Amino acid sequence: MSRTIPSSRPPSNPQALAAAVDAAHQAGALMKKHLRRAKQVNESHQHDIKLELDVRCQKLITRVLARAFPSIPVLGEEGIDAASEQAVARWVVDPIDGTVNFAYGIPHAAVSIALQVRTADGFHSEVGVVYDPFMDDLWTAIRGKPARLNGRIAKVSTRARLDESIVSLGFAKSQDSLKAAQADFLELTHRVRKIRIMGSAALALTYVACGRFDAYVEAGVRLWDIAAGGLIVECAGGSFVTQALPGEHRYGLIASNGLIHDQIPHARTSGAKKKTARSQRASKAPTRS
Ligand code: IPD
Repeated sequence: MSRTIPSSRPPSNPQALAAAVDAAHQAGALMKKHLRRAKQVNESHQHDIKLELDVRCQKLITRVLARAFPSIPVLGEEGIDAASEQAVARWVVDPIDGTVNFAYGIPHAAVSIALQVRTADGFHSEVGVVYDPFMDDLWTAIRGKPARLNGRIAKVSTRARLDESIVSLGFAKSQDSLKAAQADFLELTHRVRKIRIMGSAALALTYVACGRFDAYVEAGVRLWDIAAGGLIVECAGGSFVTQALPGEHRYGLIASNGLIHDQIPHARTSGAKKKTARSQRASKAPTRS
């Protein structure tokens, strides 16, 4: 794997945001061009597909980011720069979140890019960009500022009752997370207005951030699926509670408008329970496992 020389200072957030938006737009254009075309499958598993286009999009994103910030390493779904564990700052990239949707021609997938900065207690997201090229929806966030959707301030919903809420579930790839998701489905399905299972964690988070969903629950996501979207939820006033799971960069999570967090079964974040909602809300989007 490549190795970037780490820089000693993190970049300015507005500049990082501009670079991430540029990269997301360029990768999104490539996704849009290829949605209906035949795609080369690099790997195929029962519940997962890896496309040649995932790799191509990550390379494109890495090139665009490196032009602006040559010394910041990338930790991505399609390759991890070894320098990213020790760097003062790193990009966390999912070039195509919702790959299975995309592979099947379903236009519900996104580019996800976060800038994370290292602190004494791990990395946390400072800048987040999620781009849905099919709807041309761009969510952005800089820690401490409002989240935005296509330039306008985005806010989580104000629904306070679980029985009026739309809760999105993620059905991940491993057997244990699938079992957990089935249990969540059985438990929640009669208690909410609707369950939605859409197939992109990054978009589920941004849908929470702009009030389309009231919550999103998943038992086994990876850091690149949620590093940008989690910050966007927080900056939109919501709560983003994660628990590190065994395995590299793996988390259980509950993201919500904050008002219904305590009505959602906490099995996904049981270790983080109670002290979480507030302390992690303010915080450190997903960090180390
Ligand atoms: C997946 C999607 C899916 C989620 C999985 C992720 P990928 O990401 O976000 O919605 O349920 O946990 O791994 O593989 O399409 O980038």
